[in-house]
Amino acid sequence: MGMISLVYVSSASHDMRDDELKAILEVSRRNNEKCDVTGMLLYRDGFFIQALEGEEDTVMEVFEKIKRDDRHKNVILVYRNQTTQRMFGSWKMGFNKLRDTEEKIEGYTTWLRRPTAEFLTEEPSRARLLLESFREHTFF
Ligand SMILES: Cc1cc2nc3c(=O)[nH]c(=O)nc-3n(C[C@H](O)[C@H](O)[C@H](O)COP(=O)(O)O)c2cc1C
Repeated sequence: MGMISLVYVSSASHDMRDDELKAILEVSRRNNEKCDVTGMLLYRDGFFIQALEGEEDTVMEVFEKIKRDDRHKNVILVYRNQTTQRMFGSWKMGFNKLRDTEEKIEGYTTWLRRPTAEFLTEEPSRARLLLESFREHTFF
């Protein structure tokens, strides 16, 4: 069974408070560590982008569970690729609230101001670039 890397976007059901985001992260990190899933979650203005990576079956199970979560809606798969290397190696679930670091990201204004589902799904490599640039600026 191979490894996959999956990225989806979704809309929060309401504007998330910090304690709500913290609660999602705590559970995610606990669960993901147990099943060796790594990844990163970005949140900005009611909009989530999440990368999940690990064994295919496991990642799909986690993704199915996440899709049913009513704290977000319009869950859209951006890409799902076989991979041999993890992008987020030892991260149980990195997190970034985009506003906190966006000024530091080079090129931010050109495309991050509109991380809409359409923008990312029409060209999935954009999602990967987005996650890569945030990987460099994310606290764990
Ligand atoms: C945007 C978002 C991202 C989430 N990411 C994860 C995740 O990576 N791993 C995870 O186990 N749960 C994640 N969850 C939470 C799940 O939907 C679900 O509430 C949780 O896994 C249930 O855990 P439990 O069975 O231990 O109570 C996420 C939820 C939301 C809204």
